[in-house]
Amino acid sequence: MPELKSYAVWDVSTRWFHWINALCVIMLAFVGFMILNAGNLDISNAGKVALKKMHIWIGFVFVLNLTWRIVWAFLGNRYARWQSVFPGGRGYLHALRSYLAAFIAGRPEQYLGHNPAGRLGIAAVFLLITLQAITGLILAGTDLFYPPIGPWIAHWIAAPGIAPESLIPYAPERYDAASYESMRAFRKPFAVAHLYSFYGLVVVVILHVTAVIITELREGGSIISAMFTGRKIISKRPVDEERNGHD
Ligand code: HEM
Repeated sequence: MPELKSYAVWDVSTRWFHWINALCVIMLAFVGFMILNAGNLDISNAGKVALKKMHIWIGFVFVLNLTWRIVWAFLGNRYARWQSVFPGGRGYLHALRSYLAAFIAGRPEQYLGHNPAGRLGIAAVFLLITLQAITGLILAGTDLFYPPIGPWIAHWIAAPGIAPESLIPYAPERYDAASYESMRAFRKPFAVAHLYSFYGLVVVVILHVTAVIITELREGGSIISAMFTGRKIISKRPVDEERNGHD
């Protein structure tokens, strides 16, 4: 019977980020899907605006949580830091080949942090959620005049003699027609990026959940419960163990 050892891996900030982010992404994808299909779902214009407001408020929580995680990648423990999250760095390709070969041979290597293949998936998730956060904030400003850029957009498109603070969404009689057209042209690429990044995120999230389940079954490294407890229970010597890294 191999000896099992318990290691502290995911710190409190990383765990809270993970579950708040997962909840926000599920809710944003669900509400976003309803906004996208409002026509087919017979949702009125007022209903669509209410859905957009709900989407934006969940989006603000999502953006704050992501911002804190980005800061934490400079402050947190070694498994929370960028060099453990993103692929690359010294010896990365060698580690990836060795991990994949061992996995295929049925003798998977065990890691405390993300394994080299997992780092590819996590990097894709980080890039897509960051893209969603940036494009989402721009859409929130150009659509409903929400912060941070909403006040600036209102100044841009207010008709002469109309106070920008008095603009309300979907009331074109208060807008300067030419400025409104230019604003819509500015907004277009962000709306397209938000939509395609949503599709990309759906694919990457399905791959992430599948990979986590397969890894849990093949490696037996308690990787799912570790995102709740912070601890991994491992039978082999972890490849990324530091001396005194366990207790
Ligand atoms: C994982 C994060 C997110 C996902 C999966 C997501 C998904 C979506 C989807 C599917 C749509 C419908 C697209 C369309 O109608 O063409 C949408 C629209 C929208 N999203 Fe997001 N979104 C996310 C984050 C955010 C954030 C952080 C904000 C702002 C705080 C935001 C603001 C908006 C706005 C204002 C719209 C309406 C755009 C329009 O009317 O064209 N989203 N989102």
